[in-house]
Amino acid sequence: MKHLLSLEKMSHADMIAVLQSGAAFKHARATHAKPLAGQTWALIFSKSSTRTRVSFEVGIRELGGESLFLSAGDIQLGRGEPIKDTARVLGRMIHGAVIRTFAQSDVEDFANYSGVPTVNALTDDEHPCQVLTDIFTFEEKRGPIADQVVTFIGDGACNMPVSWIFAAAKLGFELRIAAPKNYQPAPEILRRAGGKVIVTEDLQAAAAGADLLYTDVWVSMGKEPESAQRLKELTGYQINAALLKLAKPGALVMHCLPAYRGKEIDEETFEAHAATIFDQAENRLHVQKAILNWLVA
Ligand code: CP
Ligand code: NVA
Repeated sequence: MKHLLSLEKMSHADMIAVLQSGAAFKHARATHAKPLAGQTWALIFSKSSTRTRVSFEVGIRELGGESLFLSAGDIQLGRGEPIKDTARVLGRMIHGAVIRTFAQSDVEDFANYSGVPTVNALTDDEHPCQVLTDIFTFEEKRGPIADQVVTFIGDGACNMPVSWIFAAAKLGFELRIAAPKNYQPAPEILRRAGGKVIVTEDLQAAAAGADLLYTDVWVSMGKEPESAQRLKELTGYQINAALLKLAKPGALVMHCLPAYRGKEIDEETFEAHAATIFDQAENRLHVQKAILNWLVA
């Protein structure tokens, strides 16, 4: 039984297989095989979503399956039914699950108890589908990411940079994370991942010569009570024209979205790189179809 629970646990070979077949799913959108024919997949979401929800619902349909969207607040999970009981019930009825939640242990418990392929569609710890898509998008535009320099600016301790950290070691690129001290990744994560990851408060140094500048929201879902403090402490950790000048000429700018202009990125830079950013959003569909196909193969 295969699952996609984190990039930490995904092998290099599986990453390469998914990245390669993403291109095939993108280029043969109407004509590819239907590996989910006769299957029903549940999307169990405890947090908001636009891209992840729609790309999985459309992707499952295009692969021949049906999807069932279950907002955690509408099922007994939201009233305290344990995830392991929810998993054992759904596992008898569905063929796979895509879960967006808070605790990483919840997607792991669901995978263990349900007996069906389970996908992490974002937890507080990781967002593996997004980072696989980001790497696919980079490679589509620039070729292999190995030996390139990726710079993440902003909240360096949230799910996005953590998935980037595990990808860096496996795919052999240099990752620089520019974040204030309180928003840097835990040393334990850096130790577990290995690879070439530089963490600094100096965003200019981190951006110098980079092939890709990447950012994410300063206030992740679930962190809203810290909003005022985060907006104050992360001020300045922004992708803007001045920072981009330090990167390699022609460097890409990416954002996983949703974007908050004037916070982690300025309006001018966002709009100048909108073609890349919305290709990234579209590619969620193609890469996740590759992920689903890999899970059931
Ligand atoms: N990037 C991303 O996961 O977007 P959603 O929160 O809209 O799914
Ligand atoms: N770090 C963000 C990612 C949103 C796609 C969050 O968790 O809200």
